[in-house]
Amino acid sequence: MYNNILSETSDSITTITINRPSKLNALNKETIEELHTAFAKAEEDTDVRVVIITGSGEKAFVAGADISEFANFSEEQGAELARKGQELLFDYVAEMGTPVIAAVNGFALGGGLELAMAAHFRIASDNARMGLPEVSLGVIPGYGGTQRLPQLVGKGRAMEMIMTAGMIDANTALEYGLINHITAQEELVPLANKLGGKIMRNSPMAIAAAINAVNAGYENGVDGFDTEIEEFGGCFGTEDFTEGTTAFLEKRKAEF
Ligand code: COA
Repeated sequence: MYNNILSETSDSITTITINRPSKLNALNKETIEELHTAFAKAEEDTDVRVVIITGSGEKAFVAGADISEFANFSEEQGAELARKGQELLFDYVAEMGTPVIAAVNGFALGGGLELAMAAHFRIASDNARMGLPEVSLGVIPGYGGTQRLPQLVGKGRAMEMIMTAGMIDANTALEYGLINHITAQEELVPLANKLGGKIMRNSPMAIAAAINAVNAGYENGVDGFDTEIEEFGGCFGTEDFTEGTTAFLEKRKAEF
């Protein structure tokens, strides 16, 4: 069904694997469109409670946007590439109500790191290397990297990573707060599944509301505290809230 990705769902977790290992899983236009479709399907399917995004092979998560596709673009085409990509994939993932975990299994460069940063949180294998090398190509990050990297690691560290175009290893990424956990490569997807399992015990409606409230704090012109109040109130009208509070009072496990 897809040419560049694999998507499979089991036990309510959809695992999307970018599958262009000969190009280190670089994101070409078709891959971005296929990823959008796969994420949208997961978001629409109420049986899917968690999405894991990872790369195939042992070397790369994603080595960036496909440089061969945009090397001769005009200014207008460049802007359109960034706008379309942000809309279809990067902002789409960040704003999903279904939690998205990035399992970074190797190089996450340029658009690859931007995709990992669009996910709700990240874990990485010990061989992972992360960076935004765009300025070495005469361009800047265009899929949200100039915004999400400073949000995650702080402005000074982001500035240094972007200006030097250098890569950081998994330990540095952990120290920076860019990733939450490091594992051996073979343990990476199992850990993502384990974290997904913990998430799945909780109310999907409340989780979606929490994602929206957290994201609101990073949106220009939006008061995150106001969003929190609205989302908090909204929870009281959900069946999950009835089930969660009733189960607690009845001293049983809630079933969402
Ligand atoms: N776009 C298009 N093709 C890419 C790519 C990208 N971002 N990253 C890797 N590839 C391709 C290479 O061209 C090569 O293809 P080929 O075998 O047809 O020549 C293949 O993937 C393997 O990459 P290679 O460079 O040979 O692997 P390496 O182990 O020597 O180096 C990297 C690995 C990640 C250091 C190197 O591939 C690299 O610097 N990639 C570009 C990273 C980048 O600047 N990304 C930001 C883009 S905005």
